[in-house]
This record gives sequence, structure tokens and C-alpha cells, in this order.
Amino acid sequence: MANKKLVAGNWKMHGLSADLPEIAAIAAAASSYGNVDVALCLPATLIERAVRAVPGFAIGGQDVHSAEKGAHTGCTSAQMLRDAGAALTIVGHSERREAQHESDAEVKAKAEAGLAAGLGVILCIGESLDVRESGRAVEVVDAQLAASLPAETRDNLAVAYEPIWAIGTGKVPSVGDIGEMHAALRERLVAAYGEAGRGVRILYGGSVKASNAAEIFAVPDVDGALVGGASLKAADFLPIVAAA
Ligand code: G3H
Repeated sequence: MANKKLVAGNWKMHGLSADLPEIAAIAAAASSYGNVDVALCLPATLIERAVRAVPGFAIGGQDVHSAEKGAHTGCTSAQMLRDAGAALTIVGHSERREAQHESDAEVKAKAEAGLAAGLGVILCIGESLDVRESGRAVEVVDAQLAASLPAETRDNLAVAYEPIWAIGTGKVPSVGDIGEMHAALRERLVAAYGEAGRGVRILYGGSVKASNAAEIFAVPDVDGALVGGASLKAADFLPIVAAA
């Protein structure tokens, strides 16, 4: 049976209190799509206010530290996100893997911390343009997933395949390439978790917009999307949700 789709917005470093009405508009409309789960992953500063503004709607963070607490200036623990009312978090986004030099082992520890705290986790993986052009994308991303996966899965673990070269560029892999990658990732999840691996949702991310969402969602083993730029405005995001 196909997994219920999840369409999550990643607001990255966008969002002030003036944007709460936009979040409310997205949440209000999203509730009418019963066949798809919808979430917004917001900057940490907005999470608690957004949770209060849209009770019952899934608000998430964009990263967590792997430790429960301690001397980690500027970091946020999974328990802190839960305390703020978050339902999920992204871990291992390529922008963090690159800028903060996060390793697969760190991403795995973050994913485990998020799940242990009761958060849904969207674990990101994806290849660079060099790797894609070398023909080794499936091999490299599969290895990245194998090294980043938490030791045990939970119902609320998702994986997001995001080719780095597709993020914010308007470029998208062919549906054939997306299908090939998602099939390989599904095999990896089943190898890691047995039958439970079939229930781990595999999202596609990278320049998803209203005009390409339907054909991406039609690819086998695409269980939703992680959307960046097009999640900032209800007018751009809701047609993507509607396509799921
Ligand atoms: O987390 C989201 C991805 O980085 C995709 O961003 O939709 O702006 O390409 P984008």
C-alpha cells in the first residue's frame, strides 16, 4: 500500500512575526487536504508563536543538536523543540552538511536524538553536481543514507532526497532519475529495517513547484516533498499540497 504523502515546507532563514498570517493561511487551507500530511519547518525563533497561532498543525524545526543539553552555545536540543511545541525536525540538510561540516555520523546522532524525543524526523541526503555528472549518484547517496540512518526506525521517520544541484536552482532531475534513486533508497531502508522500511516516507526536494509537483508525486516511491522557496507563500505552496 502506498504511504500517505507528506509535503513539508522548509522556510530556512526566512520568517518574522509579520509572516504568522501566512503560516495561518497555509495551515487553514492544508486542513482541507485529508489525504496528505502537511508541515512547516520554521526558524527556531518563530516555532512557539506559530504553534500557538495554528494549534494542531505540524510545525517543525530545521535542525537539532544530538545532545540532550550542555555547553553548546547557539544550539537547540530535541527536547527544546518539543518544549516549544514542535512536532518534527529536519536533520542533515545539505546546507548544514556543507556550511557546518556535519558528518553522516553527526546526522545519524541528530536523527536518533529527534526520534528519542518524540519528534518526527526528516533526514536529508543528496549528491553534488560533480557526483551526478560522474554517474555515481545512486552509489554515493545510498552510502550517505546507510551511514546517516538511525539504528532503529519509528513511524515518524522520513528521508528527503535532495540533489544539491537542484536546490533553489530551478533544475530538477528527470522523473526517471528520481525513480531510480528512490527505488535504491527504498531498498536501503528495507535492508536496514525490514518491512518497516517500506513505511518510511521518502520525500523528493529541490525546486519543487506547482508546475512540476504532480509528475514528481506520480513517481513510484515518492512519498511527498520537502519544499524550500515555494513554501513561503500560501499561493505557491498550496497547489503543491493539492497535487500530492
Ligand atoms: O529543504 C528544501 C530544499 O532545500 C529545497 O529548496 O525548493 O528552494 O529548491 P527549494
